[in-house]
Amino acid sequence: MKTLKDLFLDEVGDMYDAERRIVKALPKLVKAATCEKLKAALQAHLKETEGHVTKLEQVFQSLDQKAKGKTCKTTVALLEEGGDIVTEFKGSPALNAALISAAQKVEHHEIASYGALHEWAKLLGNSNAADLLEEILGEEKAANATLTELALKSSDKEALGECGCHNDDSEKECSDKQPATVRRGIKPAGMNRKRAGALV
Ligand SMILES: [Fe+2]
Repeated sequence: MKTLKDLFLDEVGDMYDAERRIVKALPKLVKAATCEKLKAALQAHLKETEGHVTKLEQVFQSLDQKAKGKTCKTTVALLEEGGDIVTEFKGSPALNAALISAAQKVEHHEIASYGALHEWAKLLGNSNAADLLEEILGEEKAANATLTELALKSSDKEALGECGCHNDDSEKECSDKQPATVRRGIKPAGMNRKRAGALV
């Protein structure tokens, strides 16, 4: 009969595999991003993700188990899809929006997984593991929130063609730039909404 502890170990192995795959995949997303703030956010999350691998090894230790990954099919599929998007949207104004969406799909899977793992660790009375998993969960949620903010403030507008700054090599960020349409004197749809000033 399989127990909650078996399920917990199985899922920790799944996430151990997922995090190690993400550590390998994130540098490709960092390289592909043309928005400097997105690059920085992904780079920062790469560092955190390396820490998640270490924390999961500590979770294994708390169970007197050797760290062992089990292929995370969800992450394999999400990263494969993300890789395809990078290729398909290279050079497109929608590239950064596509990268954010791909990264957020990974984050949402991680948030769901760590949310369950954290609860199971508490149910199993493993406070050491519960604390480690809570720390990882907090960082995944924060990374996801940062990506949402970047999408809303810049990348989605860029994808709509309302901000051309990422297409110009001399302008690395849109934070202090007017949207391309505004610079050209064109009033884009929704101009009355919070816009140029709201760009990242
Ligand atoms: Fe993550």
